Amino acid sequence: MHDAMKKYCFLIICLFAATFVEAQHTYKYGPVGNNKSLFISNLMKKMTVEEKVGQLNLVLSGGDPDGNAKEQAGVIRDSKGGAVFNVAGAALARKYQKIAVEGTRLGIPLLFGFDCIHGMKTEFPIPLGEAASWDLKTIEKSTRIAACEASALGVNWVYSPMLDICRDARWGRIAEGAGEDPYLGAQVAKARVIGFQGKSLKDNNTVAVCIKHYIAYGAAEAGRDYNTTDMSERTLREIYLPPFKAAVEAGAETVMSSFNAYNGVASAANPFLLRKILKGELGLKGFVVSDYDAVRELIDHGLAKDSVEAARIAIEGGLDMDMVSNIFRDKLLPLVKRKVVSEKLIDDAVRRILSVKYDLGLFNDPYLYCDENREKTELMSPDKLQAARESAQRSIVLLKNSQQILPLSKSNKTIAVIGEVANSKSDMNGCWCCYSSGNNPVSILDGIKAAAPNSQILYEKGCKVDATAPEDYSAALDIANKSDVIIMTMGEYAWMSGEAQSRSDIGIPGNQLDLFKKLEALGKPIIVLLTNGRPLAIPYLAEHATAIVETWFLGTEAGNAIADVLFGDYNPSGKLPVSFPYSVGQLPLYYNQLPTGRPHSENLSDPFRSMYKDVSNDALYPFGFGLSYTTFQYSNLRVTNPKMKANDKLEVKVDVKNTGNRVGEEVVQLYIRDLYASVSQPMKSLKKFEKLSILPGQTKTVTFYLSREDLKFYKESVGWITEPGKFYIFVGGNSRDLLKTEFDLL
Ligand code: BGC
Repeated sequence: MHDAMKKYCFLIICLFAATFVEAQHTYKYGPVGNNKSLFISNLMKKMTVEEKVGQLNLVLSGGDPDGNAKEQAGVIRDSKGGAVFNVAGAALARKYQKIAVEGTRLGIPLLFGFDCIHGMKTEFPIPLGEAASWDLKTIEKSTRIAACEASALGVNWVYSPMLDICRDARWGRIAEGAGEDPYLGAQVAKARVIGFQGKSLKDNNTVAVCIKHYIAYGAAEAGRDYNTTDMSERTLREIYLPPFKAAVEAGAETVMSSFNAYNGVASAANPFLLRKILKGELGLKGFVVSDYDAVRELIDHGLAKDSVEAARIAIEGGLDMDMVSNIFRDKLLPLVKRKVVSEKLIDDAVRRILSVKYDLGLFNDPYLYCDENREKTELMSPDKLQAARESAQRSIVLLKNSQQILPLSKSNKTIAVIGEVANSKSDMNGCWCCYSSGNNPVSILDGIKAAAPNSQILYEKGCKVDATAPEDYSAALDIANKSDVIIMTMGEYAWMSGEAQSRSDIGIPGNQLDLFKKLEALGKPIIVLLTNGRPLAIPYLAEHATAIVETWFLGTEAGNAIADVLFGDYNPSGKLPVSFPYSVGQLPLYYNQLPTGRPHSENLSDPFRSMYKDVSNDALYPFGFGLSYTTFQYSNLRVTNPKMKANDKLEVKVDVKNTGNRVGEEVVQLYIRDLYASVSQPMKSLKKFEKLSILPGQTKTVTFYLSREDLKFYKESVGWITEPGKFYIFVGGNSRDLLKTEFDLL
C-alpha cells in the first residue's frame, strides 16, 4: 500500500474506534436509552434527597473553577448545583462540566445558562426592533444563529426569548420584547423558540430556551421597573399570556418567573400562575427558574418572614430552580427532612430539570456543547454578519419622508452627519449584549461613509445625548452650513432602555431638540435617525423633520443596514410593533383599546367625552405603521361567505397594488372587531398578517382564513368562548388606515 494510503486507512480506523468508544461510553448514571421517563426514574431512585435538592440550585459562576471560582467548584463537587450561570467559552464550560461528571457521585451533567438576548457574538437588532420587521423567517434565522454561537461557547440554556407584552413605554425593558400586541407577540415567540431549539435539541448547535418573564412584568404599574401589577384574569389571559402559550406549544423547555407580583402574589411563588396555568393548563414539561435572587426577594415583597419561609412558598408555588439566592440550596433540605415540605414537590422539580438535560442530549454526551473547534469557526462568520445586516435592514421603520428626500443619491453631495450616537459603535449593540464586544458593530457614520465614497461626509457630535447644560453647537452648525443635507441621530444611548431604566419623560433627552431647532433654522433638509429602545414622544420632529427613520439599536451591522436604507439599496419595510405617543401622559397607550360609554367625538361642544383636553386619543404613529419608498393601494376587501357557521373557515381577500415605481414589501394586516358581546371587545384586534413583496404596478391578492379560534374571548369563570353576532374586519397597512367589511357569526 502507498504510504499516504496507509496513513489514510489508519486515520479512518482511529476515527471509527473513537466513535465506537464514545458510543460505548456510559457515564456514572449508566446507559441512557430512548425511554426518557424510565431513565429519569431509575436515576432518581439512585439519588439521595440531598442530591435532589442540589439539582434545584443555579450557581453563579465566578470565573475559572481552578482559579477565582474555587468556591463554585466546591459547590458543584458537593452535588449542590444543577446548573451554572454565566459561563461562556467552550473550554471553561468543559472544566465545570468535568467537575460535575467526574467529581460527583452520580455524575449528572450541568446546564449552562446565559442571557442571549438578541445574538451572542453577532448582534442582531434589539428584540423590539426586530419585531418591527414582522418577518418571522428573519427572526427565526437570527435566533438560530444566536443558538449556533451560544452553543459553540458552551452555553446550552439561554435566558431568552423575552415575551413580555408592554403597553407603557416608560418601562425600559420594552426594548427586550416584541411590543404591545398579543398576536404579533405570539408569532414572534414561536419563531424564536423554533430558532433557538432547532429541529432537535440533541444537536450540538441547539439550546434550550428559557422564556421570560412569566408574567405581566411588562404591565409594571406606571412603567416603573419591578413594580406591582394588578389586573383581571381576563386581561392576563387575553393580552399577556398568548406569547407564553405559543412558546410552550412550540416546545419551550423552561420558563423564568418574573420579579413582579401579580394581584398581590409574586410570580416566583404564585401557584395560580405557575401550577394552575403554566404547568396545568399550558402543560409545561420542563422547569421554572426564578429570576435573579427573586426567591430572596419574596421577603421584600412581604410574602415571607425569612428565607426558610421563602423557600417553602416558592417550591409550593411551583418554582423548580432558584437563581443564585442559594435559598433552595441552604433551606429546603431541613424543610423536607422535617416533612414541612413534601419530598414529592422536590421530586417533581428534579424530574423536570433532568428532563431538560435529557432533551439536550447531555446524558449521552455531557461535553456536547464544549467544542473548542466550533468556538473557533462559528463566531461572527461572514454568513452570520450578512444575516445580521438583512435583519437590521428589515427592522428599520420609515416614519416620515416628505419631499421624497429619501433615498439619497450616493454621489456629488456634501452630507453633514451630526449626533453623538452616529459615531458610536458600542451603542449599536443595544441595551443588552452579553458576549459581543462594543468594538464589533459598524457605526452609523462608518456605514454612511462606506456606502457613499463619492460624497463628502462631514461629522460633528453637536451635543451629547443627555446633557442639559448649554453646549457649543458651532462646529455642527458650521458643517451643516457647508452641506446639502443633514443627517442627525437623535434619541437615547443604548443604556437608557433595558432593565431598571424606567423614565417618566419619554421625549428626546438633553439638548438634542434645541440643537435640532438651530439646524432647522438653516433651512436645509434634515433626516432624523432615531436611536432608541422604546417609543419616544416626538411631536415636534414629526412636524419639522424632513424625514424620520426609526433605527432602534440594530446590532453588529447597524451602520451598513442604515446606509442601505438611506441610499436606497434596501427599500424599508418595517412596521411599528408598538404605538408611538404624542406625549407621555397618554400612557399606557395601545391600539386595541376597549370602547367606552362616552367615545371620543369630533363635536367639541360636548365636553363629557373620554378624551384629553390637550392631546389626541390616538398615537402619533400607530401600531403597525411604517412607510416605504413605494406606495401601496388596498382595494376590494371581501369576505367570501359573510355568514360564518361555528366550524367554518372564513375566507377574506384583499387586493394590494404597488402604485409606485420601486419593488417594495408590505405587511398586510388584518384586524377584527366583535361588535356586541357579553364582555366589551377591543375596537380592533390583530388576527393575521402577511409580509409580501410586490413589483411596481403589480397587484397581489392576499387571502386570509379566520376560524372560530380567532374570534374567541375570555370570560371569567366561563373560559374561552365566542358569541354569535356581527364582526367587522379591517385590512390595511397599519392599525389606523384600514378598509372595512363585516360578517356574521351564526
Ligand atoms: C433579569 C433577567 C435575566 C437575569 C439573569 C435579571 O435581572 O431580569 O432577564 O435573565 O437577570 O441575568
